[in-house]
Amino acid sequence: MTRDPQFGKPVRILGIETSCDETGLALLEVSPPGPEGGWPAARILGQALHSQIDLHRLYGGVVPELASRDHLLRALPLLKTCLTEADCDLQDLDWIAVTEGPGLAGALLVGVSLAHGLAAALNKPLMGLHHLEGHLLSPLLDPHSSSLRFPFLALLVSGGHTQILQVDGVGQYRLLGETIDDAAGEAFDKSAQLLGLGYPGGPAIADWASRGRADRFDFPRPLKHRASLDFSFAGLKTSVLTQVQKLSAASGLSNRGADATGRASPLSDEDRADVAAGVQAAIVEVLVHKSMAALDQTGLRQLVISGGVSANQALRSALLKEAASRGAEVFFPPPSLCTDNGVMMAWAAGLRLFSPETTAPRAGRIEARPRWDLASLAAL
Ligand code: KG4
Ligand code: ZN
Repeated sequence: MTRDPQFGKPVRILGIETSCDETGLALLEVSPPGPEGGWPAARILGQALHSQIDLHRLYGGVVPELASRDHLLRALPLLKTCLTEADCDLQDLDWIAVTEGPGLAGALLVGVSLAHGLAAALNKPLMGLHHLEGHLLSPLLDPHSSSLRFPFLALLVSGGHTQILQVDGVGQYRLLGETIDDAAGEAFDKSAQLLGLGYPGGPAIADWASRGRADRFDFPRPLKHRASLDFSFAGLKTSVLTQVQKLSAASGLSNRGADATGRASPLSDEDRADVAAGVQAAIVEVLVHKSMAALDQTGLRQLVISGGVSANQALRSALLKEAASRGAEVFFPPPSLCTDNGVMMAWAAGLRLFSPETTAPRAGRIEARPRWDLASLAAL
C-alpha cells in the first residue's frame, strides 16, 4: 500500500475502534499541512461512541465474550449515527482505518471484519493501525499542541499498558521503559475493586482521593529509584490488599460484603478516601518520576501523555509542575479523547498519509492482532 494517490487533497477517513470495551466510529476530514509545514489539519465531521461500562460493571471487569457480542450489535447503528451527523453517505469515504490490535481477539475481529466488508463493498483503501499509536498521536488533535515536534517523549498509560517511548516520527517508536507486571490503569482498577468502588476504577479512585489524606498510608513506589525506566505496580496492589484487610479486621467486619454502593462495607468512607488518595499519590509519583528521568536521560523537552489514565487530574497537575521546573512542555489529548474512541484511529491514519516524517502505511494483510508490540511497528 502506498500513500493516498490524491496526496495533497483533504481526505475523509472513517476510523473504527473495537479493541476493548468501547465501540468507536468517527469520520474525520484530514488536510495536508500547508507550504509552511506543521501538522495536518483535522475536522471531525461525525463521531459515535458506545461504552460497555454498564455491561461489564456487574463482573468487575471486561468479559471478552460479552464485549465482542456488544460490538457486533452496536457497530452498524453507530456507523449510521456517525454518517448522519457528518451529513455524508458511504460513498463519501476516501479511506477506512481500523484498529488491528492489540486487544481482545473477538472484539478486534468485529472491527476488522466491518472494515474489510466496507472496503470491499465500496472499493476503498483500508489501513490497519496499532491501538496505542492512536493514543500516542491523539494529543496532536488538541489545538494547543501545534508547537509539538519530533522527536518527543510519550508516556502511554492505559488499562493494559504503561510505557515510555521516544517518538522519532509517525510509525517510529522506540521503547525506553515499560511495566514489568501490571499496567498503571490496572493498578487503579484493582485497587478500586479491593475498596469496593466499582469499575472502571480510575475515575472512582480519583473521585475518592479528592476527599482523602494521601499521607495516612505509606504505599510502596516500586522501582522508583532504579535507573531503568521500567515500572512495576503489582506490589502496590498487594500492599492495598494488606491495608484493606487490616482496616477490615480493625472494624471487626469481613471485607467480603464490600460493593460499589458501599453496602455492608467494613471500611468507613474516611478509610476508603485515605486509601484511594494514598494509591493515587503512589501511582502518580512513580509515573512522574520516571517521565522526568526520561526527559533528563534523553535531553528531550516535550512530553506527550495519553491513554485512559491521562484523564487523571492529579497526574496532569504533577507532570505539568515537574516538567515546568525543567523548562519542558507537556501535551495531553483533549479530555474526551483520553479513553478509546474512533477519532484517534482516523487521526493516526491521517497522520500516516500526510505527515512529512511518516512511515508509509504498513503493507500486508490487515487482521486482528491481539498481541502486538508497538515498538515492532517500524519493522513490519
Ligand atoms: O485507554 P483506555 O480507555 O483503555 C485501554 O486501552 O486500556 O484506558 C482505560 C484505563 C482504565 O484502567 C481506567 O481505570 C483508566 O484508564 N482511567 C483512569 C481515569 N480515567 C480512566 N485512571 C485514573 N484516573 C482517571 N481519571
Ligand atoms: Zn486504549
